[in-house]
Amino acid sequence: MLVVGGGGREHALCWGLARSPRVTELVAAPGNAGIDELARTVADVSVDDVEGLVELTRLERPDLVVVGPEAPLVAGLADALISRGSTVFGPSAAAARLEGSKAHAKELMVEGAIPTARAGVFTELATAIGFVDALGGRAVIKADGLAAGKGVTVAADRAVAVDALEHCLDARAFGEAGATVVVEELLEGPEISAFALVDATSVVPLALSQDFKRVGEGDSGPNTGGMGAYSPLPWVGRQAEDRIWTIVRATVDVLRARGVPYRGLLYTGLMLTAEGPKVLEYNCRFGDPETEVVIPRLASDLADLLVATATDRLSDVKVSLHSESAVTVVLASGGYPGPYASRVPIEGLDDAVASGDVSIFHAGTARDGDTVVTSGGRVLAVTGMGATIEAARAEAYRAADRITFEGKTCRRDIAAHAARLAGEEQR
Ligand code: AMP
Ligand code: GLY
Repeated sequence: MLVVGGGGREHALCWGLARSPRVTELVAAPGNAGIDELARTVADVSVDDVEGLVELTRLERPDLVVVGPEAPLVAGLADALISRGSTVFGPSAAAARLEGSKAHAKELMVEGAIPTARAGVFTELATAIGFVDALGGRAVIKADGLAAGKGVTVAADRAVAVDALEHCLDARAFGEAGATVVVEELLEGPEISAFALVDATSVVPLALSQDFKRVGEGDSGPNTGGMGAYSPLPWVGRQAEDRIWTIVRATVDVLRARGVPYRGLLYTGLMLTAEGPKVLEYNCRFGDPETEVVIPRLASDLADLLVATATDRLSDVKVSLHSESAVTVVLASGGYPGPYASRVPIEGLDDAVASGDVSIFHAGTARDGDTVVTSGGRVLAVTGMGATIEAARAEAYRAADRITFEGKTCRRDIAAHAARLAGEEQR
């Protein structure tokens, strides 16, 4: 099998695939210093190199290609591979537009009567500002296209909203991705991620999880790719969860009605508002770092699930999960999400793994001779498992504290509130 990507998500995918008896050989492009312990890595083929990935697939002839990140999916990697006879886990470009264009996603939501924030789509500054005013000045401004997670501004007042609109539409801070903006009502409530496997005829719920996007404790400071995550979410009631999966199914139904089958992982980001769950966004791939808690919870064979998804045989499989909770803590480079140092040596990895029920997923690492060094803002995701969220947190932090590198930072409060809600807090 060939895994495309080189982050914590792809390390978790490789970790899950490597446990499957049906996977006899694993290749990853480009991979990282953790993935290369499980897979043969092809470091010189990047995730954006569609031609290179097509050529690599032609040479390796994998039974399945698993595409981790959104950019190659939106660019049509799955289509290119499938047209050449490959089996691919990951949606077509047409289906991936769900993530690739927020205006398109909104249109689908309206068509499917899916609960979401009231919104307008604009290309002109003046009309966009008019809509912000109609919303009372509090609004969320979103660049339509992919902007590496930086295209959304949650504006508590009119001045911030106008600034974000100018940034996007006039200054073209996100290039063409920001030539169109979605302006929407600001929603409040806890945010969660719902993961489902989807093929041409089935939708199979995998898990709910929650990630921590802000860099600082208590959800302060700038947004990041995610500083930690946990799963399951014991505080989400049965009724709310049922509504969430109904929303996910309704989304897939709209796509099918349009003749666009979805094959892969559908990530639905929702806010649990006072009026019930509402969709914030869709992603066409596994979340990062949520994957680092969802995959360790899987009791089912990951390879079976991914192959079944890619070949429209999901109706034959059953997902089973372990009863344990999983918590992952991201260790980041000092300064992240701003500028940070790279190629800093990392120590204590072996000691940390030996410390308990933990898995260490590499997010931004590389090798410098025999030494593992940092190579990104998010460096490692340290996942602990335990009978309760509190126990999983303790495992994760015990291991995280054994790893050292200059500038290492992490949030100390990942899943702390959830552990308290569950009445498990021991301090
Ligand atoms: P998105 O990429 O659309 O999920 O937006 C990024 C982040 O912005 C989300 O994870 C939320 O934290 C926040 N956000 C997006 N839409 C809204 C909204 N309508 N109301 C409040 N916050 C939002
Ligand atoms: N953790 C957020 C994402 O993967 O988009």
